[in-house]
Parts: sequence; C-alpha cells; structure tokens
Amino acid sequence: MEGEWPPGGQLLFYLMVSLLLQGRADTFTINCSGFDQNGVDPAAFQAVFDRKAFRPVINYSIPTHVNISFTLSAILEVDVRLQLLTSFLWINLMWDNPFISWNPEECVEVNKLTVSAENLWLPDIFIVESMDVDRAPTGLSAYVSSDGRIKYDRPVRVTSICNLDIFYFPFDQQNCTFTFTSFLYTVDSMLLGMDKEVWEITATSHDIIQTQGEWELLGINKATLKMLVGSNVYDQITFYVAIRRRPFLYVINLLVPSGFLIAIDAFSFFLPAESESRAPFKITLLLGYNVFLLLMNELLPASGTPLISVYFALCLSLMVLSLLETIFITYLLHLATTQPPPMPRWLHSLLLHCTNPMKCCPTAPQKGNKGLGLAPAHLPGLKEPVELVGKVPGPQEAELNGCPESTRSQQEDEAQKQHLASLWVQFSHMMDTLLFLLYLLFMATFITSVIVLWST
Ligand SMILES: *[C@@H]1O[C@H](CO)[C@@H](O)[C@H](O)[C@H]1NC(C)=O
Ligand SMILES: *[C@@H]1O[C@H](CO)[C@@H](O)[C@H](O)[C@H]1NC(C)=O
Ligand SMILES: *[C@@H]1O[C@H](CO)[C@@H](O)[C@H](O)[C@H]1NC(C)=O
Ligand SMILES: *[C@@H]1O[C@H](CO)[C@@H](O)[C@H](O)[C@H]1NC(C)=O
Repeated sequence: MEGEWPPGGQLLFYLMVSLLLQGRADTFTINCSGFDQNGVDPAAFQAVFDRKAFRPVINYSIPTHVNISFTLSAILEVDVRLQLLTSFLWINLMWDNPFISWNPEECVEVNKLTVSAENLWLPDIFIVESMDVDRAPTGLSAYVSSDGRIKYDRPVRVTSICNLDIFYFPFDQQNCTFTFTSFLYTVDSMLLGMDKEVWEITATSHDIIQTQGEWELLGINKATLKMLVGSNVYDQITFYVAIRRRPFLYVINLLVPSGFLIAIDAFSFFLPAESESRAPFKITLLLGYNVFLLLMNELLPASGTPLISVYFALCLSLMVLSLLETIFITYLLHLATTQPPPMPRWLHSLLLHCTNPMKCCPTAPQKGNKGLGLAPAHLPGLKEPVELVGKVPGPQEAELNGCPESTRSQQEDEAQKQHLASLWVQFSHMMDTLLFLLYLLFMATFITSVIVLWST
C-alpha cells in the first residue's frame, strides 16, 4: 500500500490531517468510557503526555493564561547581613490545556483527575527575588478537570532578596517583594493573572502562617507591571509582603537592662561626692554595661546601624560622662583641700549670691564650714597644705619666729585658707549639682528623641 503513494502525496496527506487536527478542539476529546470500571486508561491520555514538551495551545499566536496565587505559610528567617528573607510558600498555578477535555456525563461524573505533574507541560514561573534554587518536593501531582483546566500547587522554600531596613530595630517593619514571572515566555506566549484577590491571599496566609515566629504578617499588596529585558517584554505580578518584628524579646533583653543600668548610674549621683566609693561604683557600672553589650551583641543585627546601637552608644557615653564628672568633682575637692587656688572675685560673689542663707564673711570661716556640714577634719589633707604653705616663706618665718604677732598672723592665715577651702568645697558641690542637672537634661532629651524616632 505504501508504495502506491508518491512521496509528495504522502506528505500532503499528513499535512492535511495535521491541519484538521489543529483546527478543531473537539478532536482532542478524551474517550473516558471505561474510567468507572477499569480505572483511567493511560492510553487515553497518551496523546496529551506526548505533547508535554510543547506549550499546549492550538493556535501558537494565542498566549497561555496562567493564574497565580500563593499562601505564605511560614516566615523562617530574616538575614539582615545578607539581606535575605527565607519563607515558605504554597504556590498555586492554574492554566488551561486545550488538548484535555472529556465529557463527565459519559464518565460517571468524573470531573477531575490527578495526573503526575512530570507528564504535563508546566509553566516556568519563578520568583525574581529568589536567590536560591527552588527547594520544592519532587513527584507532585496536578489536578486536571474535564474542561482542561490544570491546577498545580507546590510548596516552595524561597530564599529571596529583600531590602531590609533595620534602622528602627527592634520595632521595624519590612516590605519584601515576590515577583512572579515566566523565565522564558514573553507576553506573546504567556500572560499572568490572578483568580483571587490579594485580601484573600492575606486572609489565608494569616490563618495558615506559623505564628510562633518572630515575624508577624501585616498585609500583602500587589502590582502588575510588565518587565522589559532588552526587546523582550515579560508579564509579571509583584506581591508586596509587609511583615513586622515582634519586639518583646528585644525589649526584655536589651532595652530594660540598659535602662536599669542608666537609672542606677543617674542615682549614683546621690552618693556623696566626698565618699571614696562613687568613682569605683561608676567604673563597676561601666564595666557591667560593657559586659552586657558584649553578651547582647548577638541579638543585634549583624550589619547596619540601627537606632538601638545609637541608643547603646549614648547610654555608654552618658556613663562615661558621669564618670568624668565624678573625676572632675573629686579633683576639685582634692584641690580645695590641698592647695585652694585664689578664688576669682566673680566666682566668689556668685557663690555668695547662690548660697544666700549662709552668708559667710572672712571673720567667721567656721560658719561656712558648718553650713556645708563639713568639719575641717572631714577634709583629708587639709593640715598638710597649711604646713606646706607655711614653709614657703622660709626667711620671713624665721624672722617672725617667737613673736606673738607671728602666731596670730599664722592663725589668721590658716583661718583664711580654711575659709578658701570651704568656699572651694562649696563650689565643687554646686558644680556637682549643676552637672548632675545637665546630665539629667541630656538624658531626658536623648531618651525622648529616641522614643519619638521609634514611635514614628
Ligand atoms: C471509547 O472507547 C471504547 C472502548 O474502550 C469504544 O467502545 C468506544 O467506541 C469509544 N468511544 C468513542 C467515542 O470513540
Ligand atoms: C490564530 O490566532 C490569531 C490571533 O488570534 C488569528 O489572527 C489567526 O487567524 C489564528 N489562526 C488560526 C489558524 O485560527
Ligand atoms: C484566571 O482568573 C480569571 C479571573 O480573575 C478567570 O476569568 C480565568 O478563567 C482564570 N484562568 C485560568 C486559566 O484559571
Ligand atoms: C511596600 O512597598 C511598595 C512599593 O515600594 C508599596 O506600594 C507598598 O504599599 C508597600 N507596602 C507596605 C505595607 O508598606
């Protein structure tokens, strides 16, 4: 029989048959008569399976419509250093395969069947932001319905790049994107769409998502823009996923302890300035704070400068400042009790003005000391400088020795020295109070500005 056809005629016959097949969709109706008795006949689907290498369309000018939707089932990790968001998505794809159709009435109401996905053509939808190979389980199946609609769901662990802004850490919100597009097919061959609204996706994700994690899903938005690569235009759907960090852990572990340390530092100003323990106490606090920072370092984001780092740095500098203040006051007190320098006139009058109720005059130095609540004995090393100063005018001392005037003038000298010392002590206390108020002012300003920044 084969010999009877000239080679050209055989070709013409095949061409005619193939044209006929292409023109009419009902040619591809699957004979499902035995499905209720013998199960699905693989031969019935063989024609479909054989075509899986090609995009299933009858007219190649018609693009395939793929409907995309997803459910965010878990937010696994947010890596600030690498700017990566690792999440788990259930991706749902839906498209039509015109080569599949059967009449469900002929097949005892078999409306849909599952078919192993590897036997079907699958759209090459991928996530643009994905920075890792898709880790989806293999051997998945797809639902095929009697009108040729294919529903293919797969779970994917997605590691996607996301522009993470940690300035407001731990009160930060992130806005990550998932852009679904075809890797190969341009708009001529594939169009993307959605059969669900974004609020449905958000609601399902809210129900499904593992809520124990650090991140909370705020909402999902979408945008549909065409992507232009060279001269090719690709269809794409962009989903914006807004997530918020649960700050409780960080508030308990970072903000509260450092707040306590700062409060103790502020209260340590109430230790008397003369006491030897104020400076060591502050140094201990500073050390403790450093240890705290070292321990808590791993809780902080590994890169970037969040506001909380600025907060820690400011807390640390407040502590350093208060230590410096203590050193300064200790130095002043020491100076006052050893070698009180002559007090400038303006400072003297200022002191008198400020401490009005206890007016001190040069003839009553003891009164001033009492006003301060400080006996000269409380000022260590006071006697030593008097002796030292007394020794300086060596020749005069020798000259005046033995005279009753000399002892009196010495006594007067000593009294004046004591008075000067007490004035300096008074001044040191005033400075202490003033610097403490400045410190409080600075602390209040900085804490309010940090809180205001955080709450915006
Ligand atoms: C379907 O296949 C059965 C045998 O499996 C055959 O008897 C029947 O004629 C076929 N129907 C059509 C419409 O081809
Ligand atoms: C294929 O589709 C295009 C555009 O829709 C149309 O112009 C063309 O006639 C179609 N071809 C056939 C053979 O139906
Ligand atoms: C895609 O969704 C639209 C509704 O948004 C629907 O009209 C269309 O039939 C769907 N297409 C497929 C292939 O699911
Ligand atoms: C995320 O960013 C996009 C564009 O940058 C914006 O349209 C969208 O509203 C943002 N979403 C949220 C929840 O902020």
